[in-house]
Amino acid sequence: SILIMQYILSSIGAHGTQERTLIAVKPDGVQKRLVGEIIKRFEQRGFKLVGMKLLQASEELLAKHYHDLKTKSFYSSLIDYMSSGPVVAMVWEGSNVVKTSRAMVGETNPLDARPGTIRGDFSVDICRNVIHASDSVDGAQREIGLWFQSNELVDWESCLHSNTYQ
Ligand code: PPS
Repeated sequence: SILIMQYILSSIGAHGTQERTLIAVKPDGVQKRLVGEIIKRFEQRGFKLVGMKLLQASEELLAKHYHDLKTKSFYSSLIDYMSSGPVVAMVWEGSNVVKTSRAMVGETNPLDARPGTIRGDFSVDICRNVIHASDSVDGAQREIGLWFQSNELVDWESCLHSNTYQ
């Protein structure tokens, strides 16, 4: 029974360190055919895809998503842009995925984003900055709840006998 307890504790521990984040390829990213490139980068880094869909986001969803920005001057143009075409919403899982995704995405203003980041490689315009990534673990949980039903997220384990892809 000690062994069983150890097994339960270790599996809780393993999942406890696994964060999830919401990544969305914005309409300009889809139109520039960057979906594959972006998925490739997250896969290559070793993160695990647990949810994905293409949708044209409603203004209602976007109002909830961007509720902190309601008073900003750019708010209505941001909602117009984000609802203007399909986006690809994804949930990626892994250790430290929230912070690491933000580093992979680069600064909000692509002019400040370093080469090698997604914005630094594919954008020069803050109003067309290709991709969204949650900015905190709590923010990610809130956003995932807005964009996905719980039955649209898939818990899966690799069938390969290696930790690399788990
Ligand atoms: S951050 O990185 O999320 O803390 O950046 P923040 O400055 O708070 O920006 C929040 C989101 O607003 C978008 N944004 C803009 N859109 C249009 N025009 C202007 N000037 C502008 N400034 C900021 C920015 O891309 C962030 O959207 P997301 O979807 O989170 O990337």
